Amino acid sequence: MNKLPVFKTDRLILRDINVNDAIDMFEYSCSPLVGPMAGWEPHRTVLESAAVINLFIDSKNRGEPGVYAIVYRENNKMIGTIELYNYKPGFKAELGYALSPAYWGKGIIVEAANCLIDWGFNDLNLKRIEVATFKENFQSQRVCEKLGFLKEGIARNAYLRYDGMVCDKVMYGMTDLDYYVKTKQEIRERIW
Ligand SMILES: CC(C)(COP(=O)(O)OP(=O)(O)OC[C@H]1O[C@@H](n2cnc3c(N)ncnc32)[C@H](O)[C@@H]1OP(=O)(O)O)[C@@H](O)C(=O)NCCC(=O)NCCS
Repeated sequence: MNKLPVFKTDRLILRDINVNDAIDMFEYSCSPLVGPMAGWEPHRTVLESAAVINLFIDSKNRGEPGVYAIVYRENNKMIGTIELYNYKPGFKAELGYALSPAYWGKGIIVEAANCLIDWGFNDLNLKRIEVATFKENFQSQRVCEKLGFLKEGIARNAYLRYDGMVCDKVMYGMTDLDYYVKTKQEIRERIW
């Protein structure tokens, strides 16, 4: 199976998730603050987290690039996941992420997502990356704004959650042209 490229930032290492991450994953996936905001039920046991990790690994057999574990370098702890999924080679993918509440508010997902956005446009040659958040998920919407995604609209009653709740989705998108403009601007800001 193809390994994902490893990315290192000041605070993070992004690498393929593996079943040894199950205990760390369970620590945050059992929280009612995390899964329901991303559309999944909180995990009840470590075994459930291990099963989810196996599904993530198996997603490569279904043509997905795979799921990254976000590792906090300071303590070598796996604190979240991030991925490009619903991958259509050479065309588009969706960005998904979840982070342990103990690490919220530090800009960690923005730091991690910038690696996947660079990878998506520069190496996977995507034309578009999109994010869909629930209308109530202001934290994720703020992440999208900080990453430079354009808010494209609201798809009403577009998602049936595991608990039967019908949710509106706020849609964000970034095209390859948006990315080019954003990158040029960031370089200009760094020079001046
Ligand atoms: C969405 C999520 C990944 C954001 O990650 P993050 O790295 O904490 O994001 P940021 O640090 O950039 O913070 C984003 C915003 O959240 C809010 N926030 C920060 N700390 C917070 C906290 N402890 N509690 C609640 N909200 C908080 C702030 O409004 C912040 O915006 P600001 O930086 O302009 O002040 C994280 O909240 C999460 O895992 N949520 C549950 C799963 C989820 O929603 N996944 C995405 C599905 S689309």
